Amino acid sequence: MADPIKVGRTQVGIVGAGPAGLILAHLLHLEGIDSVVLEMRTRKYIEERVRAGVLEQGTVELLADMGVGDRLKREGLVHHGVEFRFNGQGHHIDFQALVGRSITIYAQQEVVKDLVAARLASGAPIVFEAADVTVHELTSKSPKIRYRKDGVEHELVCDFIAGCDGFHGVCRASIEKSLTMYERTYPFAWLGILAQAPPSSHELIYANHELGFALLSMRSPEISRLYIQCDPDEDIANWPDARIWEQLHLRFATRDGKWKLTEGPVIQKNIAEMRSFVADPMQYGRLFLAGDAAHIVPPTGAKGLNLAATDARVLARALANFYSSGNTDLMDRYSQICLRRCWKVQHFSWWMTSMLHRIPGESAFDRQRQLAELDYVTSSRAASTALAEHYTGLPFTI
Ligand code: APR
Ligand code: PHB
Repeated sequence: MADPIKVGRTQVGIVGAGPAGLILAHLLHLEGIDSVVLEMRTRKYIEERVRAGVLEQGTVELLADMGVGDRLKREGLVHHGVEFRFNGQGHHIDFQALVGRSITIYAQQEVVKDLVAARLASGAPIVFEAADVTVHELTSKSPKIRYRKDGVEHELVCDFIAGCDGFHGVCRASIEKSLTMYERTYPFAWLGILAQAPPSSHELIYANHELGFALLSMRSPEISRLYIQCDPDEDIANWPDARIWEQLHLRFATRDGKWKLTEGPVIQKNIAEMRSFVADPMQYGRLFLAGDAAHIVPPTGAKGLNLAATDARVLARALANFYSSGNTDLMDRYSQICLRRCWKVQHFSWWMTSMLHRIPGESAFDRQRQLAELDYVTSSRAASTALAEHYTGLPFTI
């Protein structure tokens, strides 16, 4: 006879312990709403996964308000602007002067570590290594999540399910037939390295060069994060460290020859594809999608984590309203509220991507138009204000 299924109960079942799932779980906890987080990976894996590292001011404020901002405040690097570099010249975009706002550099896996610690300190569960997660009866009042843990089958009966399981998760895949999907892939990718080298600039540098895009970012005063544009089907084996450094030197070089890139041992190397994706609506019955499960942006605008955080914020507010007063207005408008912001962020991320990369097959006309756009964005107060407003984060509205 088959082993019996172990049945559990919670108010909100959350699939995925990335930023979206963990922020949602903690916000719900602060509202007195219980949840169970199911994560297919180990704690070590999610706490070491190298991702982006730019937090909008609103995300920093959210994490601080949630009580998980202490280490971020101590270790995060506050930046008041960024540099755009093209035609061998740097142009500073001063966020503070233009919109009075800033961004903070703090790696996504550090945000994840802080959120996991807060969650476990609150005594609420994260089930790591939850295998074969599936979602059921989504249009009923008691949707269910089934999974296996240590060989035992579980069923979690919920009031609501939050699909925070990223782009390759099961939640969106289970409701795909009822969604409209919008997608765009880009004919280039990013080769990223982490290097044990002090950042060569105190600000991020986005460079548009004849050889392709390059980005200088950082993780700490000792660690640089650097990216170069490459072909999407590029084999990383073709990129020994020396070739990457050579390209970085060329792409960041200034006309006066004075700018210097500091090299150091490469401690991590990866190639990431570039994609824009939106699923509409972000809800089906009592299943709500949040973060990368619902949308993907190319990394040029540094928006993925920030967009995941705002989805979680809207969903937590909607659930809190429901549990405190039975009011479903925000739940009904969840998708509409999130998609309105998402499409603006999609536009910004696409715009940054098209302005900064070399587009394969572009005409000489297109190249000149792109350089004129960069010239305009870095010299017009109106244009750079729009960029600063987007980059530091649009206001949170519901
Ligand atoms: N069952 C359980 N967990 C799953 C499943 C599954 N079937 N599929 C995926 N997961 C987990 C992943 O292991 C991951 O930990 O869901 C989590 C999703 O987290 P993220 O991919 O980080 O997505 P999200 O929380 O939406 O955060 C968006 O992450 O992709 C980056 O750069 C992107 O910054 C953005 C942020
Ligand atoms: C990063 O630090 O990893 C980073 C910074 C800016 C981006 C994308 C990634 O636009």
